Amino acid sequence: MVSNDWITAHAPRALARILSRLKQDLAIEDGSHPKEWAVFEDRLKHHWQQLFTLLHHLYGWQYDFYYHLEKITHAAAKCWLERPAYLKVLDDERERDPDWFQNQSMVGGVLYVDLFSTRLSKLHEHMAYFKKLGITYLHLMPLFAVPHGDNDGGYAVSDYRSINPDIGTMEELAQLARILHQEGISLVLDFVFNHTSDEHRWARRAQAGDPDFQAYYHLFDDRRLPDQYQRHLRDIFPTVRRGSFTWHDPLKKWVWTTFNSYQWDLNYSNPDVFCAMLKEMLFLSNQGVTIFRLDAVAFIWKRLGTDCENQPEAHMVVQAFNALARIAAPALLFKSEAIVHPDEVIKYIGQNECRLSYNPTLMALLWEALATREVKLLAHVMRHRSRLPQGCAWVNYLRCHDDIGWTFDDSDARSVGIDPVGHRQFLNSFYTGRYENSFARGISFQFNPDTGDLRISGTLASLAGLEQALEQADQRLIEYAVRRINLLRSIMLSAGGIPLIYLGDEWGALNDYTYLSDPAKAGDSRWVHRSKRRWEARDDLTDADTLEWRFYNELVKLIGIRKTLAALYNGGMQVVDAGNPHLFAYARQHHARRVLIVNNFSDNPQLMPVELLKEIGFGNGAADLVSGRRLAPGAPLDLDGYRYVWLDPQTTL
Ligand code: GLC
Repeated sequence: MVSNDWITAHAPRALARILSRLKQDLAIEDGSHPKEWAVFEDRLKHHWQQLFTLLHHLYGWQYDFYYHLEKITHAAAKCWLERPAYLKVLDDERERDPDWFQNQSMVGGVLYVDLFSTRLSKLHEHMAYFKKLGITYLHLMPLFAVPHGDNDGGYAVSDYRSINPDIGTMEELAQLARILHQEGISLVLDFVFNHTSDEHRWARRAQAGDPDFQAYYHLFDDRRLPDQYQRHLRDIFPTVRRGSFTWHDPLKKWVWTTFNSYQWDLNYSNPDVFCAMLKEMLFLSNQGVTIFRLDAVAFIWKRLGTDCENQPEAHMVVQAFNALARIAAPALLFKSEAIVHPDEVIKYIGQNECRLSYNPTLMALLWEALATREVKLLAHVMRHRSRLPQGCAWVNYLRCHDDIGWTFDDSDARSVGIDPVGHRQFLNSFYTGRYENSFARGISFQFNPDTGDLRISGTLASLAGLEQALEQADQRLIEYAVRRINLLRSIMLSAGGIPLIYLGDEWGALNDYTYLSDPAKAGDSRWVHRSKRRWEARDDLTDADTLEWRFYNELVKLIGIRKTLAALYNGGMQVVDAGNPHLFAYARQHHARRVLIVNNFSDNPQLMPVELLKEIGFGNGAADLVSGRRLAPGAPLDLDGYRYVWLDPQTTL
């Protein structure tokens, strides 16, 4: 590694040379380009040293490093020049207000275009629906060109510049982005950058024997290296294939395929790959994508002798992409999708890397607390793991298109008297409905017979007991399930960060087992919670007698409260002792506004003693913004089964 002094001396020199050639190539000096060039140059200078350091660290050992550096800078400049004017305005706005997403008015939604609606061009017809839910962040699940049949729900991308023709066109995406922008909604897409499909042009060139494109992937002539790597790798999709390598017969080579065999891992130690993916990323950001979910980010760098997850270079690659985004598309933000150990999740989060991150630990522990009806692990972990660096935010979710894995830390579990191994087995048996008295209807995902591991598929409503309760037509159980769902939502909406609704959950979609009769889906139980929206049932949302109506309207109501509650401006949660193993309580504060949120994970009524309320300044009475009732001064908090309160001492009801 070179010294800082070396960088300080060489970075500006490299920039001066590159800039003068760049201006010639792009005809900047002829004055034929917009005057915003000066803005680009300023940003380039501002972020150069950091970018240079990262790229030098990643690729400086290559004999042609400066060639790559120039190519990368050139790509950024070209994309900037092509960037639509409205996005340049947004760039300026977000640079001036980098904390724009911290506001409590932020609410996210995520959907599959074809399952929720039909085509991209039709999506804006649901604008009123999005507005009613208060959505300001809309994540469209992968919609790019993909292989026919099985394509991992769109995560095997064959071309980042074409939309799957069944869904629409790139022009329609760009048009939708503008409409969403006018409505104050940020368009979020996946940046599926760990792998391409084996039908991507690069993979086809590799298959045709082109050595330049073979170097885009990790290909091996024999098992020597794969065997050495394999010793330390875990199987991500063990029911698809054992091991992380796939034999490609026509090529007579082994291909690194962390996920499905048709998803070829890209080789980021090759600077051509970095530059090629940068161009795809900036191209998409110029179509109006302003937040990228960095798919499978943990896996992008391989190192022999390690598990090839969360390598330091994976962070550097993301930081380098981020620096280039600051230069050529400053409105762009990254959200990390690192569903890994909590110690690793946090490392992706920072102003120079991902400002947003899924909160997989909170998600998993909410389900854990629902199963055990106790909050000791949840409270313990949130007490010391929920803080984020300045300028960053969690994206809190209950369900998404993926499975649930129990990614909590073993020593966290032990420190509250829980045996982590046995507990994961219990949770799996609970959520697959095998545990006696379980209310959940989950499906096992990716059972690994060697380790006994599995993960859980299923919708929010089915996992929370609604499916079973409806089948048994038991009103008491239905009521419990409804309350459990609302309880989890209370936390998602108040925990600190951006809540993200997996659309379908807003009206309580149940598991959909029809995937079993589709051969392209039957082997992947995640399809049980990826079902088609029943718009014909839309009337349910206006009929107060239906469950759909209750779910939808209670969510709309809670979102409304969230949006007006200044204390919920993102600043993290302060977990407080509720003196009761079933109550998960935390304060949220912004400036002088402070609220106390208490959630009862038991099906029985529970008390929070007045002494503890007093200790945290809530002993003198407060209004519950959810029920509209008052907690009397000097009284303990008495919470019915699965109920929650948002207590505000400053509101008079
Ligand atoms: C991410 C996606 C998941 C996909 C995998 C491979 O984890 O969320 O759905 O299967 O990456 O792309």
